[in-house]
Amino acid sequence: MNVLGIETSCDETAAAVVRDGRQVLASVVFTQTEFHAPYGGVVPEVASRNHLVYLPEIVEQAVSKSGVGWNGIDAIAATYGPGLASSLLIGLTTGRALALRLAKPFIAVNHLEAHLYAPFLSKSTPDPSGVCPFVGLVVSGGHTCLVMVEGLGKYRLLGTTVDDAAGESFDKGAKLLGLGYPGGPEIDRLAGNGNASAITFPRGRVSADTFGLSRDLCFSFSGLKTALLYFLKDDSKAAGYSPADIAASYQQAIVDPLCKRLVAAAQRVGAGCVVLSGGVSINRRLREQAAKLGKLSGLRVLFAEPQYCLDNAAMVAGLAGAGQGIKGDEAWSVDVNPNLKIGFR
Ligand code: KG4
Ligand code: ZN
Repeated sequence: MNVLGIETSCDETAAAVVRDGRQVLASVVFTQTEFHAPYGGVVPEVASRNHLVYLPEIVEQAVSKSGVGWNGIDAIAATYGPGLASSLLIGLTTGRALALRLAKPFIAVNHLEAHLYAPFLSKSTPDPSGVCPFVGLVVSGGHTCLVMVEGLGKYRLLGTTVDDAAGESFDKGAKLLGLGYPGGPEIDRLAGNGNASAITFPRGRVSADTFGLSRDLCFSFSGLKTALLYFLKDDSKAAGYSPADIAASYQQAIVDPLCKRLVAAAQRVGAGCVVLSGGVSINRRLREQAAKLGKLSGLRVLFAEPQYCLDNAAMVAGLAGAGQGIKGDEAWSVDVNPNLKIGFR
């Protein structure tokens, strides 16, 4: 089954064709960074306007690159949440219109569940059933969550951030350091030459159980950003360190809690495998440390390939092709849901 997937939840305009949930025939992503960079973050109105302009062309490109043609598309899938309402609306409506025109089924997909599925788009990764139950860590610009995956469609939230997302901390930290947007890749690059233990920035702790989740599996990053702000304001402190040392130390204060809680979550639920996905999981230090800790703790560690870490439509088409998502009559009526949680509709 060839699924055409569409993803427009934030500022990536993406379309892909995936066969049987695993084989990516084409994946096209148009990143709108250049339009948002002057503002230092994503501007919702700009994002949705550009989805409207570029999505038709991106979809055409994906179908053409896939080699199967329009006649070879068996179903259409699109993200319906979480994300920016006006951006989600463009992808969801386009997906439904195409499905109607082609007289094919339409499938509505949860963006977070799609991120969790992204590692399974790689040929070298086993099928999800081969590594379940596993613990997934989704770390992106908008999300930081730890999820127990008993099987596809069977998700239990174990931990979440109580304030900023990990990617947001990278982006805000980079802004304070005078680096470009998005900040994650900039800090990753600069930190490569720095000493991660030069400065001890605070590792955010959550003081009480929140949303019914255990506090020691939840994250807090807002204090870290404030600590960097005050550190930089104080010349007597900041002047003694190179930008690389500051970036590496700041990055370490994000990576440490992510790795610590990922391993703790796997041990708590008795999972033998952990899976990292989302834009922040491209981070070299995070990959290195998660792999090392996994080895020490006897855990299998899987990552998505970098092109499937950032927002893309292959993960949407893949998950739908694996039988997940909202199907049938409900798929035609479900509305966009900007606050959609994992494991919910
Ligand atoms: O998954 P994604 O495309 O968007 C959301 O669904 O939110 O992730 C974008 C985020 C941005 O915050 C960006 O700074 C971060 O991923 N990011 C990184 C790296 N590459 C992208 N963060 C740390 N290190 C990186 N190498
Ligand atoms: Zn995302």
